[in-house]
Amino acid sequence: MIYPIVKFGDPVLEKQATPVTAFDEDLQKLVDDMFESMYAAHGVGLAAPQIGISRRLAVIDTTFKEDPDAKLVLANPEIIFTEGRHTQNEGCLSIPEFRESVTRPRKVTIRAQDVKGNFYEKTGEELLARAFLHETDHLNGKLYISHISALKRDLMKRKIRKMMKAGEW
Ligand code: NI
Repeated sequence: MIYPIVKFGDPVLEKQATPVTAFDEDLQKLVDDMFESMYAAHGVGLAAPQIGISRRLAVIDTTFKEDPDAKLVLANPEIIFTEGRHTQNEGCLSIPEFRESVTRPRKVTIRAQDVKGNFYEKTGEELLARAFLHETDHLNGKLYISHISALKRDLMKRKIRKMMKAGEW
């Protein structure tokens, strides 16, 4: 099932999500639906709050279907190591049509659980590191625009409010 993506302005995106506790068939179905929804929206990462479910769960595939091994399920992820700095344009499925340059650590290690509840650690660089941070932020109610200047953020919010008023958001 393809879920519609929740857009900026919905309070679920700015809320602390609750931990995943049941690693059962329902979770497997939700994860499958999240991958399907992410691919349908042409994204490389999707967090559960973005489909209106406030759980600490995200999916990532920075290869966009090229490599099945690159499909990652992050349940209850924690950032346990970061190193360096890397600046790149970043976007979010919940803030469509906008992209901003964001500086984040270049190398990131997460500790998370897979869909069966098994703990694992994984280190990513550049795009994957960015995805780990971006998706983990989502679970803490934080969007990438919190990492840009207040000036740029206010400008973006003004544009979005205009689009909301025009019924284009
Ligand atoms: Ni996002």
